[in-house]
Amino acid sequence: MAETPAADVHPPYLYPDYKSTRLRAPAQPLVRVAPSPLDTAGPTFPKHFVKDSEADLTTWGKSAPLGEKMVLVGRVLDEDGRPVRRSLVEVWQANASGKYPHPVDDHEAPLDPNFLGKGQVLTDDKGRYRIVTVKPGAYPWQNHAFGWRPAHIHFSLFGNAYAQRLITQMFFPGDPLLAIDPIFQSVPEAGRRLLIADLDLEHGVEGVALGYRFDMVLRGPRATPMGV
Ligand SMILES: [Fe+2]
Repeated sequence: MAETPAADVHPPYLYPDYKSTRLRAPAQPLVRVAPSPLDTAGPTFPKHFVKDSEADLTTWGKSAPLGEKMVLVGRVLDEDGRPVRRSLVEVWQANASGKYPHPVDDHEAPLDPNFLGKGQVLTDDKGRYRIVTVKPGAYPWQNHAFGWRPAHIHFSLFGNAYAQRLITQMFFPGDPLLAIDPIFQSVPEAGRRLLIADLDLEHGVEGVALGYRFDMVLRGPRATPMGV
């Protein structure tokens, strides 16, 4: 099993207020394994693996999805601040009503036939990515009484080496639900700010879409925390 994540930024495996961690946290001490070639080499994705259209989650249906359209830009950097190039960034999210098109989502909210809520993009030579979507809605969950998840977008990144793998969630600035979200609160305070996007109007589309920025760092002291 992998080394314990750095305690200062990443959430602990066990955070009792986040119920799922009670079941999935390792019950035995972790075993340190020898470094392998996979720590320094990882999956590479040819350019044609991802279609340009997959970076725009708003053009999947017959017409535009409901909700507040947004453009999300950012850079993916390694622990030394170098761009992570041509690396796969996958996103998934609820629709503007806080509903996933998934059979186990029993939230009483409407599906949007024009929104599937998933996309992917490869970073460019400067480590940049750009995604067009709608702002996801908050949704209730069964973790605790009156629990609601703050609006969030899920991210999965492969980086350029398996040791850079990151699965996390991006949140929105000023959301009052952050204070009652055990997933967000399980991240040590020093890391929480790194999971909140910045408003970035100039990267939006005038009169059409709000712009947000969310940079991610894979490993190192400034690493973006895991959020699963
Ligand atoms: Fe979610």
